[in-house]
Amino acid sequence: MTDKLWGGRFTQKAAAWVDKFGASIGFDQAMAHEDLEGSLAHVAMLGKTGIIPQKDADAITDGLHQLQQKLDAGELHFTIANEDIHLNLESMLTDLIGPVAGKLHTARSRNDQVATDLHLWLKHRLPEIKSAISDLQSVLVEKADEHAGTIMPGYTHMQHAQPITYGHYLLAYFEMFQRDYERFEFNQKHTDILPLGAAALAGTTFPIDREFVAEQLGFDAVYHNSLDAVSDRDFALEFLSNAAILMQHLSRLAEELILWCTYEFNYIEMSDAFSTGSSIMPQKKNADFAELTRGKTGRVYGALMGLLTTMKAIPLAYNKDMQEDKEPIFDAFDTILGSVHIFSGMIESLTVHPEKMHDATINDFSNATELADYLATKGVPFRQAHEIVGELVLKGIQTKTSLQDMPLAELQQAAPQIEEDVYTELSSEAAVNRRTSLGGTAVSNVKKEVKRAQGILAQH
Ligand code: ARG
Repeated sequence: MTDKLWGGRFTQKAAAWVDKFGASIGFDQAMAHEDLEGSLAHVAMLGKTGIIPQKDADAITDGLHQLQQKLDAGELHFTIANEDIHLNLESMLTDLIGPVAGKLHTARSRNDQVATDLHLWLKHRLPEIKSAISDLQSVLVEKADEHAGTIMPGYTHMQHAQPITYGHYLLAYFEMFQRDYERFEFNQKHTDILPLGAAALAGTTFPIDREFVAEQLGFDAVYHNSLDAVSDRDFALEFLSNAAILMQHLSRLAEELILWCTYEFNYIEMSDAFSTGSSIMPQKKNADFAELTRGKTGRVYGALMGLLTTMKAIPLAYNKDMQEDKEPIFDAFDTILGSVHIFSGMIESLTVHPEKMHDATINDFSNATELADYLATKGVPFRQAHEIVGELVLKGIQTKTSLQDMPLAELQQAAPQIEEDVYTELSSEAAVNRRTSLGGTAVSNVKKEVKRAQGILAQH
């Protein structure tokens, strides 16, 4: 026998460096609270069902409470010799209350224990993610309200396409983050299921009460198949997948903000509080935090791909491969929470340059669709109108004249249907405000959608 908790059938000790390779205590100590919480619910059940005498259950409960206090006080020192958080805490419990601690592991395995810890860990933290997303959405809505009428170029292929408003643009991200919010909400459903009671893989011979444990821990349901209970990591993959999609949204937003703070665009300026300088170039003000978030997107995608790959060929039920599930989750959690917070502050505090945005829509021919639509309403088939306007644009580029600056006679030469009223249709304001179709960029629409968004946030 060796000195491991499971050392009965062993005669040879592993070298310290081998132990180190197999140990997870370096990172799974992040689940120490959850491990104690799970053990408390389990021992309450063992006492209640009479699986162990109530006085033993009480002694264990008391010991676990002491460990909770020591943990909060930073007095627990974990060791690689005890491999993981489960064995570390069990050995500490034994040191505290003696051999009765050994009864805690009745009708339980580390396999259902670790799965329970991870479910609990995520269950406790999903609300934090949701509330950070809500905060970011609130900032977007507040700014969209303020900038419902701030005209800017809308792009396709990074070319000026049609004028939109900055408010409309911000609300596009509100929608994306709302879907993220809903995805994390759904993630809760699959996280809120209790594995404990599956034991190693096949269930247990003891008359356990899983519903009682689930209730103690605040889980909505219990797993109905013991093999699935210990080997399911879908809830973790869903979390990482949701995290990856969220980062994709932040990264696209980051890219645009970085571009818009450039000398060339100058649509916005980041506040000093969310910028950094250069150690050599005194004039520099860099949008580092947007860049860093864009960069961290790769890290979160990596976490998702890593765990998907780890899980892909694991036969049922538990295999040690699954120890690799924790770090990507812990890391992705910190990364997305930090990134979402950063974006709330960054967007809240940045300065918008409405005149720069508006000016960019004046000589860019982004009112060409207006003129084509104008002709179409005068009965010219749209395809023909498109061609007429295309030729006018070409002429305008050659003569450096915008459509709205061309004399009426010149316009009429291209299409006799054009009348004096065309000029009021060619302003960016008109282009925006005529787009009143549901979901369109008209200022009145944006204001309506701000109200709707506020209603959605009120339900978070
Ligand atoms: N440290 C392990 C993990 O993270 C705990 C479960 C170990 N179970 C086992 N049968 N070796 O997955």
